[in-house]
Amino acid sequence: MKNIKFTKSDAFYKKVLKLIPTASQTFSKSAIQYSKGASPLFLDKGKGAFVWDVDGNKYIDYVGALLPIILGYNDKDVNNAIIKQLKKGISFSLPTTLELDLAQLIVDYIPCAEMVRFAKNGSDATSAAIRLARAYTGKDVIAVSGYHGWHDWYIGTTSRSLGVPKKVTQFTKSFEFNNIESFKKLLSDNKNNVAGVMIEPESGVPANKRFLKELRNITKKKNIILIFDEIVTGFRVHFSGAQAKYKIIPDLACYGKSLANGMPLSVITGKKNIMKLMDDIFFSGTFNGEALSIAAGIATLKKLKRLDVTNEIIEHGRFLKQEIKILISKYKLEEFIQITGENWRPYFIIKNMDILVTTLFRQTCVKHGILICSGFNLSYSHIKPEVKKKFQISFEKVFHEMNKILHSPNPKKFLKGELIKPIFEVRKTIPKKNEK
Ligand SMILES: Cc1ncc(COP(=O)(O)O)c(C=O)c1O
Repeated sequence: MKNIKFTKSDAFYKKVLKLIPTASQTFSKSAIQYSKGASPLFLDKGKGAFVWDVDGNKYIDYVGALLPIILGYNDKDVNNAIIKQLKKGISFSLPTTLELDLAQLIVDYIPCAEMVRFAKNGSDATSAAIRLARAYTGKDVIAVSGYHGWHDWYIGTTSRSLGVPKKVTQFTKSFEFNNIESFKKLLSDNKNNVAGVMIEPESGVPANKRFLKELRNITKKKNIILIFDEIVTGFRVHFSGAQAKYKIIPDLACYGKSLANGMPLSVITGKKNIMKLMDDIFFSGTFNGEALSIAAGIATLKKLKRLDVTNEIIEHGRFLKQEIKILISKYKLEEFIQITGENWRPYFIIKNMDILVTTLFRQTCVKHGILICSGFNLSYSHIKPEVKKKFQISFEKVFHEMNKILHSPNPKKFLKGELIKPIFEVRKTIPKKNEK
């Protein structure tokens, strides 16, 4: 058995907590998602499909920085683009010509894209989109289905709403994905005041085409701006996003995450007549045109297109799912763990979302050199034969050990670190009680 140690990670965590609340800048990258004492909490470097923690342990990384890493860590072509631009400068007093180059690629590749603006985070883009929808329609209410970032207008509608005045969120209403009746009810509850509807066009489950079609028809008829939040689906469910996969063209769309292989960059794009209102609303950021990220975005999109990365990843996801299914069955774990999800992002379902089983599973993955959260955030680097081989060897060990643990009279005694904490449910799209 491998004796993996987290001495530096644990010591560092104690120090960091004194200076940095949550000891992380990103909720889902914090210690709540990893078993303290039995997982790394800080990473040092990455290359291809692998990362190394601060104790020098090496893992296949299936978190991918929460999806931005679509080519792999430290990608040669993206690095070269960044280095070339770095020699010229990072942020400037006027726009650079790179902005036009990237805008042109977005317009060429994304069906709804006629004009483009850049930002840093997905939340910037989603908030800009709803401002545009309100400005364009003169209405107030935004209907949502999915997770759309940390800003008041959205997060105030979730259980993590501390610090958000209730009044701010009275104009954001949630409805159930794939349930057109729930959207129609929202419309009738809010009469003629719905400005826009923002959905994650694929979120754990595929979209029902009829649902999307009806949503498109109703929004067109009622002068409601249809916005696809493609922050996750972008360049992953289809190279051009879910709008290309489902052939439903929204009015506006937001992209981020995988756009620049880890550099901070997001996009809001869509119909010219709506995007032109950017001239009149206020949407502005000191770093929105920062040149290294734009250069990285250009290099990433060109490479994704050239190597047909999206389809390669989808095919690899199909392979992973098959392999995992075989192992789950071989080690008689069906009653505890299942693998599901679309091939672009297979994920595990732990029965009853049992925290003990989830923690034991992640702890066992870490022990055998796998860093993973709920599922597989894949990159082009995972497809390499040596990574595939390592995946097979490591997961064979993981499931072999999980069989021993979960079929023992007291699985809890195998716990090496602390239990992870359940993440707050953001993608539960059923309206809350008393919510109109
Ligand atoms: C669908 C979706 N929209 C928006 C966001 C917000 O993006 P960011 O965290 O870059 O602000 C996320 C982040 O996970 C997301 O998954």
